[in-house]
Amino acid sequence: MNGNKIGIFDSGLGGLIIARSLISAMPDFSFTYLGDTLHVPYGPRSYESIYGFAESCIDYLFRNEDCRIVIIACNTATIAALRKLQQVYLPANFPDRRILGIVIPTLEYVAEGGFKNIGLLATTGTINSGVYEQELAKLNPDIKIYPVAAPLLVPLIENDGDKFAPPIIAEYLKNFDGRNIDSIILGCTHYPHYKDLIRTCTPGIEIISQDEIIAEKLADYLMRHPEIERDLSRDGARKFIATDITESYLTVAKNIFGNEITISHADIP
Ligand code: DGL
Repeated sequence: MNGNKIGIFDSGLGGLIIARSLISAMPDFSFTYLGDTLHVPYGPRSYESIYGFAESCIDYLFRNEDCRIVIIACNTATIAALRKLQQVYLPANFPDRRILGIVIPTLEYVAEGGFKNIGLLATTGTINSGVYEQELAKLNPDIKIYPVAAPLLVPLIENDGDKFAPPIIAEYLKNFDGRNIDSIILGCTHYPHYKDLIRTCTPGIEIISQDEIIAEKLADYLMRHPEIERDLSRDGARKFIATDITESYLTVAKNIFGNEITISHADIP
């Protein structure tokens, strides 16, 4: 068996923004979402820890949830774990299955869009890695990117802190003043939650929100890989699981995804 579902993996619940967009664009497909709420946030953690958590969770999605393909919605996990998962873990364990990240599809969108001076808002882990700059240089070395870490945004969203967001976002955006940027990548699962607010503060600048580009990128990938596409079941099933469940996680999940969501516990060693 090669698996027949699409898995979506995130460090926590912010990836539900990406899940919502994928599910609404591809309603017939069968999805399992796994949030590693036991270990969120990944942003400040070491790459070794993130790799270990990500491998265990993705292994669970393949073994227990029968996923054919897993999308890592988390930018930090994509950066810390994707390459080793693709080059070492998959060939040794599930050579016919696939794991995709969120960074390359975002940068492809940027390169195709003709942008020239780009701002990047992301977690401290993502910014410190320099991966966005390195990968963009491979696609188009002429595009400039100005990275800004915005570490307070994830805890605001996780803790129902929207009313505190406007001055904090304004402070982060000041870093782009005088840079003549034409676009800003929201390089974190959670940040699309504030995309309207950010758009209001940045007239004339394109805000690149991963929830708005990922569905088209996945559809494009499946079109280029019919051997995967034809294995995927079309029963419209959805399952949401998390490594830890509390009342406040459920509230955050409903705020992000909608009241209809139910999440069950995944016991992952
Ligand atoms: N999912 C993470 C990301 O996209 C943000 C939350 C975290 O730090 O775990 O980078």
